[in-house]
Order: sequence, then structure tokens, then C-alpha cells
Amino acid sequence: MKTKTLWQTGAAIVAASGFGAFFAVAFAEEPAPQPPEEVQAAEVAKALADPSIIPAGQRSFVKCQACHMVGENVQRRAGPPLNGVVGRAAGTNEGFRYSPGMAKVTAENLVWTVETLDAYLKAPRDVVPGTTMGFAGIPKPEERKAIIAYLASFASDGTRVEAAKAVE
Ligand code: HEC
Repeated sequence: MKTKTLWQTGAAIVAASGFGAFFAVAFAEEPAPQPPEEVQAAEVAKALADPSIIPAGQRSFVKCQACHMVGENVQRRAGPPLNGVVGRAAGTNEGFRYSPGMAKVTAENLVWTVETLDAYLKAPRDVVPGTTMGFAGIPKPEERKAIIAYLASFASDGTRVEAAKAVE
């Protein structure tokens, strides 16, 4: 019987580690679903098809730096850190308080593919209505492409991917 099993499991956890731990387990939030690793890897590979544009992306990233960090030892600024953002589900940087607009697209399973990122960087509000990213957008397609390549060159832990090491 499911109810009984759950109760027994709960009771066992309480017995083993006290009420605090039991409630922490019972009410822990579900982590947001991420696309399969192959999908993420495919988007990163697509973004890095031409790694020679990474340095140009790095130069353009000064436009983002007031609000975003990449690399090791990142902190939240006005915006979330962007390590590993390419191929990841939108609005899922742990601990960052996103806008209701971003929460809505997260619930709709928006993934930051090369295409959706390109559209967001061109006109943030067109892709995420109500986003609090106070940024007008990057009109030039080549510049967006370079920024996306630069972002893709950072793994989720902030280390650089192999393709980046070759050009820097
Ligand atoms: C004035 C501050 C500001 C600037 C400048 C800015 N952003 Fe943002 N960005 C934000 C905020 C705030 C959010 C969260 C938006 C929300 O919750 O709606 C965000 C969200 C994002 C996201 C989604 C992150 C996620 O976890 O899903 C990406 C990608 C992004 N920004 C990229 C960029 C890039 C690239 C640039 C530069 C070209 C840039 N931003 C410039 C403030 C900024």
C-alpha cells in the first residue's frame, strides 16, 4: 500500500535523522527539468562550429558584464551567472530570483538553444515577455553569434571547453 509505505519511509527518516531532515526531504523543490545531455552537447557544438569567433564574443561581452559573470568563482550580479547556459533550460540558475516572465517560459520548457538565445539577445522582450533583463538587444547577427560562441566556451563549472583553449 502506497500510503503506508510512504508513512513508513517517513517514519524511518524521522527516526534516523530527526524532524528537520524529514521535512527538508519532504518539501525539497523538484529541480527544473534539463534537456538530455546529448541535446545540450549538440547545441554547444553548434555554437562552437567556428571557435575563431570566440575572442570577438569576449570583446562584446563587456556589454553584459555589468549584470553577468562567466568563468570560475562567479557571483550573481543583477543577472545570473551564464556558465553552461547554452543548451540549458531557461531560467534555471540555482538560487537566482527570475522575473515572473522568465518563470513562465521555464514552465513552458524553453531551452537556450543557439536559435532561442540568438532571438533573446536580439530582442529580449520578444522571447521572454516581461523579462527584467534591462538590455536593448544586439542588432548585428555576427555579434550575437560571437557572443553565443563565447558563452558556449564555458562549461557549467566555469572551466573552458577544449575548443576555446585552442584560440585563446
Ligand atoms: C542591465 C543588466 C543586464 C544586462 C546589461 C544584460 N543582462 Fe542578461 N539578464 C539580466 C537579468 C536581470 C536576467 C534575468 C531576467 C529575468 O528573470 O527575466 C538576465 C537573463 C539573461 C539570460 C537568461 C539566463 C538564464 O539563466 O536563463 C541570458 C542568456 C542573458 N541574460 C544573456 C545576456 C547577454 C549575453 C548580455 C549581453 C549581450 C546580457 N544578458 C546583458 C540582466 C542583464
